Amino acid sequence: MLKYLTLGAVAATALWLTRPTLPKNQSNAPLAPNAALESPENNYKTYCASCHGEKVEMFVDRQWKHGNKKEDLIKSISKGYTENGMPSWSAALSPKDIEAMADLILATIEKGEVYRFSEKPKSNIFSAEGMTVKLDTVVKGVPCPWGMTFLPDGGMIVTNRDGEVYRVDKNRKKTKLAGVPAVIAEGQGGMLDVELHPKFAENNFIYLSYSIGKTENGEKLSSTAVMRAKLDGNQLTDQKVIFEALPYLKTRHHYGSRLEFDKNGYLFVSVGDRGQHGPKLPQSVENSCGKIHRINDDGSIPADNPFANKGKAVASIYSYGHRNPQGMVMNPTTGDIWEHEHGPRGGDELNRIQKATNYGWPVISYGINYDGSVLTPLTAQDGMQQPNHYWIPSIGPSGMTFITGDKYPAWKGNLLVGSLRFQYLNRCKLENGKVVKEEILLQNIGRLRSVEMGRDGYIYVGVEGKEGYVFRLLPM
Ligand code: HEC
Repeated sequence: MLKYLTLGAVAATALWLTRPTLPKNQSNAPLAPNAALESPENNYKTYCASCHGEKVEMFVDRQWKHGNKKEDLIKSISKGYTENGMPSWSAALSPKDIEAMADLILATIEKGEVYRFSEKPKSNIFSAEGMTVKLDTVVKGVPCPWGMTFLPDGGMIVTNRDGEVYRVDKNRKKTKLAGVPAVIAEGQGGMLDVELHPKFAENNFIYLSYSIGKTENGEKLSSTAVMRAKLDGNQLTDQKVIFEALPYLKTRHHYGSRLEFDKNGYLFVSVGDRGQHGPKLPQSVENSCGKIHRINDDGSIPADNPFANKGKAVASIYSYGHRNPQGMVMNPTTGDIWEHEHGPRGGDELNRIQKATNYGWPVISYGINYDGSVLTPLTAQDGMQQPNHYWIPSIGPSGMTFITGDKYPAWKGNLLVGSLRFQYLNRCKLENGKVVKEEILLQNIGRLRSVEMGRDGYIYVGVEGKEGYVFRLLPM
C-alpha cells in the first residue's frame, strides 16, 4: 500500500513522553476535575475566550440566535451546537458552573454596556520595532471583510462573509457586484476569499471561494466551492464553478477557503476538516476535507498532481492532514506556498506546503480539546510533517502575507498573520523557515480577518465589527 495512504501505526510509544508539558498558568493548561471551584470568569477565560473573545462583554454585542434568557443560555452552553462549531460543555463543566456562566453572561448583558474594548486604541498611530504606521480608512461597512484583492486600475475587491462582494474604486467608492454565487452564510460559512487570475489584465478572470449549499433527503448540506467568473464593470459574467469539495456535510464550520496562485499559474485552494476530525476525513485522500488542493486556472487537474490517477484518491489534493487553513500565501522569494491553520485549543500551525505531504491532523497536534481533555498524546510521528511554527495559546489566525517592496524597510520579508482571538496583527520574522521573533502590531484593533499587500506597496488589513473596515498602513 502506498505510504501516504496509510494512517501509520500508532507506533512510537516513546513519543508519548516527548509531549511538552504546558505551563500551569496558561489558559491552555487542562483544568483539574474540581473545576467547580473556579470562578465563572476564570472558566470563561479557559473554555470560552478562544472563540468568543477575551472579554465576556463580547456577548453584549452579539446578534443572538438561540436566545439570551437564562434557560436559553444554559441550554446553549450545556448542549452546544456542534454542527456550527459550538462544543457541548456538559461533560467539562458541572451544572453549577454552567449556571454561574449563564449568570455571568446575563449580568454582563444587563449592565447594558455596549461592547467596547476597554483598551481600544486611542489613536490611529501605532509604533512598533523600527517603524511607526498610521491607519488610513479605505473601506467602511463590510462587517466581515474575509477576502480582498487589488485591481490594476487602483481599485480593489472586498468580500463580506454575509454574501456580498464589493468593488471599491480608486476614489474609495464602494459598489456591490452583481452575479455573485449564492452562499450559505451560517456559522463560519459565507462569501470567503477572492483572487485575481495572474493575467487578469488580459482575461478579467476573478475567483471566489464560498460555502455552497445543497439539499439532500430534506437535509441542508454545505461545502467549500470556487467560482471563476469574468469581472465586467460591476457585474460578474461567465460564472463557472471550477472546484467543489466533497463530501457535502451538515456542519457549518471549518471551510478553510483561502485561494492563492503560485508563480507557475496553479491555483491552490485550502479546505478545512469541516469539524469532522475523526481521522477519516483529513487523513484519507479519498475526500476533499482537511486538504490543500492544486488545480489549473480552469479547474482541471495538473498532470503531475501527486494523487492524480491514484485509484479513489481525489486528484486535486496536493497535501493533507490539515485542520482549518484560513491563511495561505506564496512566499515571493522562494515561490513556495505557506499556510496557517487553526488548531483546537492551542496548536495553531504555520506550515510550508510540500507536495504529497501529510501534516498530521488529527493524529499529531500541539493542541488539546476545547474542554481541556487530551486530543492526541502525539505531537510527532514518522511520515507526518512538523509545523514550521505553532502557537500556544491559539491566536486564531486568519489572513497572511509576506511584506514585499520597500515601504516597510524594518519589516522587509517578514510574515504578517491576523489574529481573530487577540485582535491584532502578528509580525513574524523568519530565518531558515523558522519564526525567530514575533511582535504584536495594531493591538486591540478588532478581529483581524485578512491581510494583503496592495499593488501600491502598502499593507492592507480587514477588521471585523459592526461597521467593519479595511485599513491601509501608512508608514510615518
Ligand atoms: C470552538 C469555539 C467555541 C468555544 C470554545 C465556545 N463557543 Fe460558544 N459558540 C461558538 C459558536 C460557533 C457559536 C454559534 C453557534 C450557532 O451559530 O448556532 C456559539 C454560540 C454560543 C452561544 C449561543 C449564542 C446565541 O447566539 O444564541 C452561547 C450562549 C455560547 N456560545 C456560550 C459559550 C460559552 C459559555 C463557552 C465556554 C464555556 C463557549 N460558548 C465556548 C463557538 C464556541
